[in-house]
Amino acid sequence: MSAHSVPAPLPCPAAIRLHCAGPLEAVVVAALQRACFPEDPWDDASVATLTAPPTGFAVIALDGQEQPVGFAMARVTAEDAEILAIGVLPQARRGGIGRCLVEAVAAGSHGRGATALFLEVAEDNQEAWTLYKVCGFFSVGRRPGYYRRRDGRVAALVLRRNLDGA
Ligand SMILES: CC(C)(COP(=O)(O)OP(=O)(O)OC[C@H]1O[C@@H](n2cnc3c(N)ncnc32)[C@H](O)[C@@H]1OP(=O)(O)O)[C@@H](O)C(=O)NCCC(=O)NCCS
Repeated sequence: MSAHSVPAPLPCPAAIRLHCAGPLEAVVVAALQRACFPEDPWDDASVATLTAPPTGFAVIALDGQEQPVGFAMARVTAEDAEILAIGVLPQARRGGIGRCLVEAVAAGSHGRGATALFLEVAEDNQEAWTLYKVCGFFSVGRRPGYYRRRDGRVAALVLRRNLDGA
């Protein structure tokens, strides 16, 4: 195993179905984004623009009742892909959905020709940082003061995962 090899993904939770969101479902993705990031809500139009093909795409996680419980948005530019946002509704967390969404984005990015997947995570976002570590990401940079907080600013860590063989 190399220093930056990717662990074998766990299967998605049995009740969860992943759905590749079409352009008309940008409103669903946007509603999930606002529920998961109330301190940094994006409007429907921004989400539609960011996820528009051919570079953008989004994945929605549906529960056993076909209700949306999580989402991921990503963009592919040549060989690099970027996770723009990923979130799971508070009541559905710690059930493996976040991990499942990361794997779906990795596979979707690889399928679109990307060889590396990047993202930015706030240095104080321990849950997300732990999730990305278990999914094979490693830190390649730090942007001081990147995110605004009520009581100041916090750095962003730039993370990378290699997609060869994803
Ligand atoms: C980060 C987030 C997407 C994780 O979603 P999730 O569905 O809870 O994640 P999973 O259940 O797949 O967790 C996978 C692993 O990540 C780690 N992890 C996730 N949440 C954690 C927490 N609260 N504390 C510690 N570790 C955590 C664990 O290693 C976990 O594996 P385990 O449950 O077997 O221990 C979710 O907490 C969220 O939506 N947060 C708000 C939005 C956000 O911060 N998004 C990321 C921005 S970069």
